[in-house]
Amino acid sequence: MLRSSAVLGLAGRLLLAGGLLVCWGTPAARGAGETAPSLEYGARVYQERCVLCHGREGYGDGVLPVSLKGYPSANLRRNRHGRSLEELREAIIHGGSRGGMSPEMPPWGDELTYLQVESVARFTKLLMDQPERALPLLERSEVDEPPSLRRGRSLFRNYCSLCHGENGEGDGKMARIIKDPPPFNLTLSRAPDDYLMQIITRGGAAMGRSPRMPPWGEQFSESERRSIISYIKTLRRQ
Ligand code: HEC
Ligand code: HEC
Repeated sequence: MLRSSAVLGLAGRLLLAGGLLVCWGTPAARGAGETAPSLEYGARVYQERCVLCHGREGYGDGVLPVSLKGYPSANLRRNRHGRSLEELREAIIHGGSRGGMSPEMPPWGDELTYLQVESVARFTKLLMDQPERALPLLERSEVDEPPSLRRGRSLFRNYCSLCHGENGEGDGKMARIIKDPPPFNLTLSRAPDDYLMQIITRGGAAMGRSPRMPPWGEQFSESERRSIISYIKTLRRQ
């Protein structure tokens, strides 16, 4: 089973190399109704877009840094690139795309709206200056709900789309720097459920695949992983 999935993986890669990889920017995140920048809105953006690397409390212990060897420090508490609102805004808009910072910090200017950048810059500043005031603004959702597509969709958007793309086509932001192989085009995946569960839980490296596919077993409960699996299967092309 592992072997046949590896073959499917290769086929997917060949298709990608054949030019199916289309790059569109993902639509700006939900947040209709926001009219002015706010710390609350910034906390929501942070939770959706930044926790993956910077970790829930900003210590840089998100899934990516923790699971990848040699990953640059993403510890916001040990702020090294300036903490004025102006400097934070710049860091968030351009990330590592202009040098001066690792390319592992993606540029967000093309994806987040003005309100989102402004809000998340303010939230990040508060997290650096007064974490005791910032942390209570983050929502807790630790209750384990039964598996659902709705939950799967939301987890996918927050944690997977950065690489796999909003529609699973392998064209997320990080696809710019993750090559050989690129993030898998999940619309072409034919892997069975138990393989999906394995690779999502244990990560690419444990399955003889790319270590850039992180392990999620510690991050998500089994029910959450089931939700994600149901959701990514809805992205498949018939
Ligand atoms: C894919 C991983 C990743 C994501 C997602 C990410 N970052 Fe980063 N970020 C990094 C890394 C790695 C660095 C360190 C770069 C360096 O020091 O060269 C960094 C650095 C930063 C810095 C500078 C920190 C310092 O030391 O001064 C800020 C500010 C920042 N990120 C904000 C954000 C915000 C806000 C978001 C969400 C909108 C975000 N990042 C999402 C990986 C990420
Ligand atoms: C940092 C980038 C990154 C993130 C984040 C990421 N992946 Fe991946 N993923 C990859 C890469 C790269 C591969 C290709 C591995 C290979 O082919 O060797 C991959 C492969 C996969 C595969 C294998 C598909 C197949 O049919 O063989 C699945 C399933 C998958 N990812 C699911 C997820 C899910 C679910 C999430 C979020 C919880 C996620 N990934 C987050 C980079 C990422």
